[in-house]
Amino acid sequence: MFTPEMMESVKKVEATRDARMQTEPRRMTAEEKDELLKAFHPDYRQEAFSEIKIGPNKGEKAPQELAHLLHSNSRILGEDIDLTKIDYDTDVLIIGGGGAGASAAIEAHEAGADVMIVTKLRIGDANTMMAEGGIQAADKPNDSPVQHYLDAFGGGHFAARPELLKRLVMEAPDAIKWLNELGVMFDKDDDGVMVTTHGGGTSRKRMHACKDYSGAEIMRTVRDEVINRKIPVIEFTSAVELIKDTNGHVAGAVLLNMETGDYMVARAKTVIIATGGAGRMHYQNFPTSNHYGATADGLVLGYRAGAPLLYQDTIQYHPTGVAYPSQIFGALVTEKVRSLGAMLVNVDGEAFMHPLETRDVSAASIIRECTARGKGVDTPLGSGVWLDTPMIEKLGGPGTIEKRIPAMLRMYLNYDIDMRKVPILVYPTLHYQNGGLEIGGDGFTKAIDNLLVAGEAVGGIHGRNRLMGNSLLDIIVFGRNAGKAAAAKAKEIELGELTLKHIEDYAAALNEAGIETNDVSPLLLPKYARHER
Ligand code: FUM
Repeated sequence: MFTPEMMESVKKVEATRDARMQTEPRRMTAEEKDELLKAFHPDYRQEAFSEIKIGPNKGEKAPQELAHLLHSNSRILGEDIDLTKIDYDTDVLIIGGGGAGASAAIEAHEAGADVMIVTKLRIGDANTMMAEGGIQAADKPNDSPVQHYLDAFGGGHFAARPELLKRLVMEAPDAIKWLNELGVMFDKDDDGVMVTTHGGGTSRKRMHACKDYSGAEIMRTVRDEVINRKIPVIEFTSAVELIKDTNGHVAGAVLLNMETGDYMVARAKTVIIATGGAGRMHYQNFPTSNHYGATADGLVLGYRAGAPLLYQDTIQYHPTGVAYPSQIFGALVTEKVRSLGAMLVNVDGEAFMHPLETRDVSAASIIRECTARGKGVDTPLGSGVWLDTPMIEKLGGPGTIEKRIPAMLRMYLNYDIDMRKVPILVYPTLHYQNGGLEIGGDGFTKAIDNLLVAGEAVGGIHGRNRLMGNSLLDIIVFGRNAGKAAAAKAKEIELGELTLKHIEDYAAALNEAGIETNDVSPLLLPKYARHER
């Protein structure tokens, strides 16, 4: 359980609870938020970023670790890849087996295309599976897509690409309907009406959830649909480079069998990058809520093929990662815990912020409490603040935690922490890449007209900060759209001769920029992976 020092602090949290429940902390002004972010949000630590030296975003900054990947060699440089020997031939090649990839595959298949998924782990080994709190959609009478747009646009610092955000919010109600009809078990009241709650920065209750395992339930459903449709899924196989053709189209990918180390060639008329996030890059040494394979692969593949990135310098640190116990350090504590009423409280039992500020503001506020203000609670791996979970039972009645966030309850009970009775310790964890490959409203990359991107590998949907529940939404909206658009585009494409010249050109550009390295990218697995065969 907790150390004696932690228990001393818990007593202070208990002592202030009743008073805190009478007065909600005020929200910060825009000026206060700006000042806080600049001083304490990790995106503002200049020393954690480097300049990109080559390619479409040359001269812009990226997290050092991502810039390093962009400055690394291709894995296939010097390899003898025979592009005349085609191992797989398909209309639509989808790289990535998470929610976006699966949704794309279903729609491409529905449109009559030959479609194939390739994934370096197993289908469903993805951040989708790890998502907890819910999925936003303005489908209640007091809400509208316009309201949803305004919340997300403001929360993202007015930087979202309007054409992308518009698609996200306008197609959200249909995304929920589609998932519901596929079999997702959304939380519903006794009349069968979907239960919706607030998230940070939402002006309406539009968070639809499946208890606190919304992503796992959505992934279960779309994965089943892929399997039922008998869509080929090539597992434990990584795409390590895109292939182009002599007309400048993308024409497939070089695949690596993760077990044997053999390379294969997949030819395709359209390609969808749906490779997900980058948490396992551990930017700035943060722990992460992400799955094991989240290593920014798609960004590297797309960039080497000439597709620009957008907002690659902005990362989301989820305010409430587990700070203690150490065994689950960095795991996600869903924002739903705060939307159900738990307050963030410092070592002295003081509420230091409104619990539903947007994520970047909340994360910066917790970091300030633990650093500049010295009001964090010491833990074996650093420090954290309390999330006062017993408040949920006081506000919602006994049994609320078990009913609404049962997975979280079980996770903590494994470590003898009963969150119904004692608060839990949290600190920001690397959660989401706000930036990624730039696409137009139609889902295609701007540089290559038959290359699409969907899900977390896209940059620009959310601007410079994403609201809770808009990621599960974007994988469905942009995944479905990419599948339909790729199937339609495949009918127009006549592929020329396959080539990997862009890989040689990229190597030459590295050389010209004076970058010498023995490192290779995409990373595929985190640095701490054991590479044994
Ligand atoms: O807090 C959460 O449940 C995470 C949701 C999200 O990133 O959208």
